[in-house]
Amino acid sequence: APDIPVAGVKAHLDRLQAVADAHGGNRAHGTAGYQASVDYIKEKLDAAGFTTTVQEFTRNGRTGRNLIADWPGGGTDRTVMTGAHLDSVTEGPGINDNGSAAAGILEVALAVSRTHLEPAKHLRFAWWGAEEYGMVGSRHYVDKLSADDRGKIDAYLNFDMIGSPNPGYFVYDDDARLEKVFKDHFAAKNIATEVETEGDGRSDHAPFKDAGVPVGGLFSGADYIKTAEQAKKWGGTAGKAFDACYHASCDTVKNIDDTALGNNTAAIADAVWKLAS
Ligand code: PHE
Ligand code: ZN
Ligand code: ZN
Ligand code: ZN
Repeated sequence: APDIPVAGVKAHLDRLQAVADAHGGNRAHGTAGYQASVDYIKEKLDAAGFTTTVQEFTRNGRTGRNLIADWPGGGTDRTVMTGAHLDSVTEGPGINDNGSAAAGILEVALAVSRTHLEPAKHLRFAWWGAEEYGMVGSRHYVDKLSADDRGKIDAYLNFDMIGSPNPGYFVYDDDARLEKVFKDHFAAKNIATEVETEGDGRSDHAPFKDAGVPVGGLFSGADYIKTAEQAKKWGGTAGKAFDACYHASCDTVKNIDDTALGNNTAAIADAVWKLAS
């Protein structure tokens, strides 16, 4: 995979922060801040040659939106799908949760375009709405898929919080093949990983897994506390949460560890390139 410039990912985070600042401090489901977040990502994807679709749904009387981006080409009977939720909680701007992965997968998608990738498999990226209300957008998407289309999804890769300020490196263990892709990547970089347990069933991979689609993903930690042993292998502060600003107003652009953001974005690119070939 090509290098993914972390400066590019951070520039998207600055824009998502500005969106929140301009819309009452958050980018939550059903708000103008959420819509502005969709508009920003969609414009980048359209300019890069993706075919984008906005899928609408309703939750709590408000319209929610998923943004789907297809890279033209690749055999659609085998699709590699990569997703991240784009909504924040109402309490704050949602920059680590989940601007981090929304921006990270955007930058990976833009790298697909820059390199004119011609993958054997079809590539699809998704930004989900209303995850914070119980994975509403991703569940809506999976529910609307025909059994035939569901069967064409080779893998769904989910990313929710990848730049935690006191980071850990957690790999989903739901599917052995996908887990190995990430573990091999980090092993080659001498970065220790652990199995992801904090979020089991608590993000947008759950609806896919429930439907029988193989799922994988990465996570850098939320409100669990980093142990002394974990601080030894990953650095950071033992006895402190991986993300002390989880679901809080302080989840701003200051609430990001650039190294974790860069390492995880590189791993996403590596996995997409590998799985699509
Ligand atoms: N889904 C949780 C949220 O958005 C975050 C989370 C992700 C927690 C992965 C654990 C594991 O709030
Ligand atoms: Zn959240
Ligand atoms: Zn989240
Ligand atoms: Zn690698």
